[in-house]
Amino acid sequence: MVALFKPFLKWAGGKNQLIEQINNYLPAELSGGYIKRYIEPFIGGGAVFMHIAQFYQIEDFFISDINPDLILAYKTIQKNVEELVTLLFDIQNKYLSLEREERRKYFYQVRTLFNLQRQEINLNNYTIQCIERTAQFIFLNRTCFNGLFRVNSKGNFNVPFGKYNNPTICDQENLKAVSQLLQRTQIIHGDFTECEKFVDRHAFVYFDPPYRPLSKTANFTSYSQDSFDEKEQLRLRDFFIILDKKGAKLLLSNSDPKNKDAKDDFFEINYKGYQIKRVKASRNINSNPFKRGQINELLIKNYQEATYQGEQSEKVR
Ligand SMILES: C[S@@+](CC[C@H](N)C(=O)[O-])C[C@H]1O[C@@H](n2cnc3c(N)ncnc32)[C@H](O)[C@@H]1O
Repeated sequence: MVALFKPFLKWAGGKNQLIEQINNYLPAELSGGYIKRYIEPFIGGGAVFMHIAQFYQIEDFFISDINPDLILAYKTIQKNVEELVTLLFDIQNKYLSLEREERRKYFYQVRTLFNLQRQEINLNNYTIQCIERTAQFIFLNRTCFNGLFRVNSKGNFNVPFGKYNNPTICDQENLKAVSQLLQRTQIIHGDFTECEKFVDRHAFVYFDPPYRPLSKTANFTSYSQDSFDEKEQLRLRDFFIILDKKGAKLLLSNSDPKNKDAKDDFFEINYKGYQIKRVKASRNINSNPFKRGQINELLIKNYQEATYQGEQSEKVR
């Protein structure tokens, strides 16, 4: 089956590559109509959200993230997709008409403007000004190095220019299809706990937090100014237990510390009583290509495995 829509951003830790494995571990109740609401509190690029939205019958969706620009982008696509497409086409035409060196200059001009305007725009108050900011955000994501979103300690986007020959800056069909989906979606800027009041036993919650670093140097945690340290991992575990008591189906991704240290039982200890599965993933966030490759990742869940794995996997292909 051909996907109708896909993530409109490249996002660190994006789950595009893992969709098939994740699909194998989704709750059986997703298919019978029992689960009515899908909740993803660390939405990022939303690969799992978009997969579930097009292959399962869900009545409504809740997404959130701590990154204000990311949430602004989802809101713009929900509310003003036509205007956004027009702006993105203008940017795309201009950018693609430039030579390499001029493209680099243009990229840094937009980056500077984007960082300066952060002080001027109230990112929590959606206004018409937000459309231009979202266009800049998508442009930077499509043309920066590795499609990363990373900010420095002052909150300024600091990823350098990426050398793509022919980047798609405006994928009109996809943006419009995503906009349709977002009409049925509650979009919140905030902490992962914000979803609590939307969770009941008919909800399925997928958590994809910033990963617990595998080593002291592997700490890509700066999606936003707030870092996600060990204390945050434990705060998330406590929240997982609260939602479990509400009867919701829960699935959580994280890195597998046993890739580095077979004796590191952090997840076995902290998620005792839940099911911990290991799946193979390719990591490509590392800028050093020699440090990329296949490693295990964890899927932690509070329900039994589905019995229809084969059938659903077929749908993904
Ligand atoms: C691993 S990424 C999610 C990737 C996503 N599943 C995808 O497919 O692109 C983690 C996300 O968590 C967000 N985040 C970090 N701390 C958070 C918090 N306390 N509450 C909500 N979101 C948070 C980051 O901004 C980032 O977008």
